[in-house]
Amino acid sequence: MIARGATPAGASNEREAASQVRRMFGRVARRYDLLNHLLSFQMDRWWRACTARRLSAILSRPDARVLDLCCGTGDLARALSRHAQARVYASDFCHPMLLAARGKLPRCPLFEGDALALPVASGSFDLLTVAFGFRNFANYRAGLAEALRVLKPGGALAILEFTTPPGRLFRALYRFYSAQILPRAGALISDAGDAYTYLPESVRKFPDAPTLKSELESAGFAEVEFTYMTCGVVALHVAYA
Ligand SMILES: C[S@@+](CC[C@H](N)C(=O)[O-])C[C@H]1O[C@@H](n2cnc3c(N)ncnc32)[C@H](O)[C@@H]1O
Repeated sequence: MIARGATPAGASNEREAASQVRRMFGRVARRYDLLNHLLSFQMDRWWRACTARRLSAILSRPDARVLDLCCGTGDLARALSRHAQARVYASDFCHPMLLAARGKLPRCPLFEGDALALPVASGSFDLLTVAFGFRNFANYRAGLAEALRVLKPGGALAILEFTTPPGRLFRALYRFYSAQILPRAGALISDAGDAYTYLPESVRKFPDAPTLKSELESAGFAEVEFTYMTCGVVALHVAYA
C-alpha cells in the first residue's frame, strides 16, 4: 500500500496539500531552472532528453497528441517538442510556473489545470508525461485514474521521478546530499527554503520504483516498465492504458 499522496508540513487534508504545493512552486518559479540545473549538476537536462528519446516512437507520429502534465517552467515539454512531429500540449496548476514556460514554448498550447481533474475530454491523448510532478500529487491513485481517463486506449503514461537508489552505498551518499546539502543550497539561492526541505522529505516518503510499478499495474495500466538513471536517483516509468 503506497502513501496516499504528498503531505507538505502543516497540510491536514488533500485540498490543503495541493494548495501548499501550488503556493510553494509559485514562490520558487523565478529561480526554479537555476536551482534545478545547479542542484542536479545539470543531470536534469540529460534525464529529460533520455525521456524524450524513450518516447520517440509516439513523438514521431504526426497524428499523436501529447500532454506534458506538471510542466513547470517547460523543460520537458521543450525536450519532447525537439523530437516531435506530434502536437505537444503542456499544463500545470501553478500560474507563475506557466508564465515561465510561456517564453520557452512559443508553439506549444499551455493551459492551467490540476492533474487530478484535468479540463480535457476523456480519451483525448496518446501520451501523457509528468516529470518531477507526480510525487507532489495530493492523491497518487486519483492522479493515475485521471491519467487513464484522458488517455486513448493503448496510450502511454511516462513518469520521470526521483526515487530511492537501490544500491546501499549510493543510497547513503544520496541521503547525505539531500538531507545536508540540498536544503542549505536551496535556501541560500531561492526565497523559499521550505521548498528545499520539502523536496528530500517528499522523495523519502515517495514509493520506490518497484512499488510505483505495482501501483500502476493495480490502477489498470499494462506493460509497465521502469528504468533507473544516475544510479537510481531517478526512475522513468512507462505504462500503457
Ligand atoms: C518539480 S516541478 C517539475 C516541473 C517540470 N516538469 C520539470 O521537469 O522541471 C513540479 C510541478 O508540478 C506542478 N504540480 C504539482 N502538483 C500538481 C497538480 N496536482 N496539478 C498540476 N500541476 C501540479 C507544480 O506546480 C510544479 O510546477
